[in-house]
Amino acid sequence: MTKTDLTIPASAPACLSIDELSFDEIDEIANPRPEETDFDRIVEQAISRRGFLSGVLVMGSAAALSATTALTPGAAAAADRFGFDAVAANTRDGITLPTGFKWDMVISWGDPIFPGAPEFDGATRGTGASQATSFGDNIDGMALFSDGQRDLLVCNNEYTNRKIIWGNRAEGAWETDDDVEKGMMAHGVSVVEVAKTDGRWLPVQDSRMNRRITPQTPMDITGPARGHDMLKTSADPAAEAALGTWNNCGNGRTPWGTYLACEENFNGYFSSSVENAQDTPEFKRYGVRDNDWGYGWRQIDARFDISKEPNEPNRAGYVVEIDPFDPNSKPRKLTALGRFKHENAEMVINSDGKVVVYMGDDERGEFLYRFVSDGVYTAGGDNAGLLEDGTLYAAKFDNDGTGTWMELSEAATGMTKAEICIYTRMAGSKVGATTMDRPEWVASNPVKAELYCALTNNKNRGIKTNAGGDATPAEGPNPRVANNFGQVVRWWPANADHTADQFRWDLYVMAGNPTTTADDLKGKEEGDPSFPQDDGSANINAGNMFNSPDGLAFSENGLLFIQTDGNYSNKGQFVGMGNNQMLVGDPATGEIRRFLVGPNECEVTGSAWSSDNRTLFVGIQHPGERGNSHWPGGGDSVPRSAVIAITREDGGVIG
Ligand code: FEO
Ligand code: CA
Ligand code: CA
Ligand code: CA
Repeated sequence: MTKTDLTIPASAPACLSIDELSFDEIDEIANPRPEETDFDRIVEQAISRRGFLSGVLVMGSAAALSATTALTPGAAAAADRFGFDAVAANTRDGITLPTGFKWDMVISWGDPIFPGAPEFDGATRGTGASQATSFGDNIDGMALFSDGQRDLLVCNNEYTNRKIIWGNRAEGAWETDDDVEKGMMAHGVSVVEVAKTDGRWLPVQDSRMNRRITPQTPMDITGPARGHDMLKTSADPAAEAALGTWNNCGNGRTPWGTYLACEENFNGYFSSSVENAQDTPEFKRYGVRDNDWGYGWRQIDARFDISKEPNEPNRAGYVVEIDPFDPNSKPRKLTALGRFKHENAEMVINSDGKVVVYMGDDERGEFLYRFVSDGVYTAGGDNAGLLEDGTLYAAKFDNDGTGTWMELSEAATGMTKAEICIYTRMAGSKVGATTMDRPEWVASNPVKAELYCALTNNKNRGIKTNAGGDATPAEGPNPRVANNFGQVVRWWPANADHTADQFRWDLYVMAGNPTTTADDLKGKEEGDPSFPQDDGSANINAGNMFNSPDGLAFSENGLLFIQTDGNYSNKGQFVGMGNNQMLVGDPATGEIRRFLVGPNECEVTGSAWSSDNRTLFVGIQHPGERGNSHWPGGGDSVPRSAVIAITREDGGVIG
């Protein structure tokens, strides 16, 4: 085996380096979707898109009513709930916050979290051993847990960027087994006690609560797929004990004090020592193939070789439950919550005590899911098994502003309960769920039964099917052909009952660019489907425009914080949008204000409030992913993903 057979996808154009591609582009090249050539349908969809933007699209009367008020800033005579003045878009290699706010560094990739662990070394960027005792890379979902005595910050460390973690190597690629090990140990979850010292949140380096959970940490497999043949491997013939978690994107938390880490692009770590081992419908649907995305894990661990362990990929793509207050606890893979490219897991306790978890599958044309537990939550009781037994549903949106949760039952899918939990995407296809524009985070409004999901973008909308061959018509909550900007859909469960199968929906915002000119569009007309562009919904203006909403979180007072993971070129369709950012939306009025702008080439993702709501922790992921940032160290330092703590200078509540 050579190094190169693990790196550049075979189908990538020869002129492209893998490092010039985004995470999504790599997946797209690796897993090209079937082409559709129905030109007439595309034109028809483009026309209906214009209809939507001029307010003509027919929606259900209730949804249409709320859409009108929601998408018109200032329509309601509400007082200013924001408590800050918007910041301008910019391309500064730093953090921009509104006047009256400040930020402090909490912890960065490579910071030691155990006594005696070495400080981060920018020249080598560490070793396998140093990384295993240090904070992981590329922070994504996070939560802060407080037991009244200590605060534990739990963070996902989603992935690594080759040219950053192996930037000490001439080609920005791994050269030794220890390089691969370093990359592997930078993945997973970090648990770190944090405490305020002289008013500043800092890690407690010698806390016995600190923990690294990595791709090698033993975990229990729970739920319907536990023990199933499709999960059996040579190391675990009982299919009961998985090893590790990786590519943890968004997160969730439970009222019984556990953390939920959501496995997203798990496929990119598998490869094969023989050709065409990936040639099955299941591998194709989940994007598992002969080549990995450059991580090289097969080099040091044979279970990542799908020709040797074809069931190992079936043991990833789940939600993992972690008890942060017991550093010796075994994390649990929750197969009952389904297997797909999980974004986050937004949990709600329904009025009847059932636990409901809303989850997006972040891939073009994949689905939005709901889990409803069999059991009920009891405060202070034993709730440990609630996420082991329940029912999965996938969302079907109708164009009239209503929708239905389609049960993924054995009868409807022709699959067993375990098969539904392992090949959940196939089950969603069988019930005719709506193909979505890449569902990212779901957030639940704490003051009413109302959910929001960021649909980040989908350049294939109306152009290609999903990997299962399901059509992607431009309609419903995904109304734009070749959608480069994204939107946020929201819905209201019937009778405020999260277990009800019916809901109403509308679009809270459609991102867009109201300022582009013919020059920005390279001579094409606005609305030309071959270069689709539009202004977005009425609550988007020159002062708050953005693209690719991703992270969503509500403050306790019901303001919606929106984080972006989009195109930061500041050119063409994206001119004037600057770097990735965080905005705040008022659900009642639809108004959106920009709150934070991140450093160059970062994504802003993951957030958590302190228990007094006076500190907002935010994750800055992959600054300088294309080589153009030195944040946070400045000078010619290595860019490092980090968690920052934002406070008001007057000490007030944020959000
Ligand atoms: Fe890791 Fe869908 O973002
Ligand atoms: Ca995300
Ligand atoms: Ca994203
Ligand atoms: Ca990212």
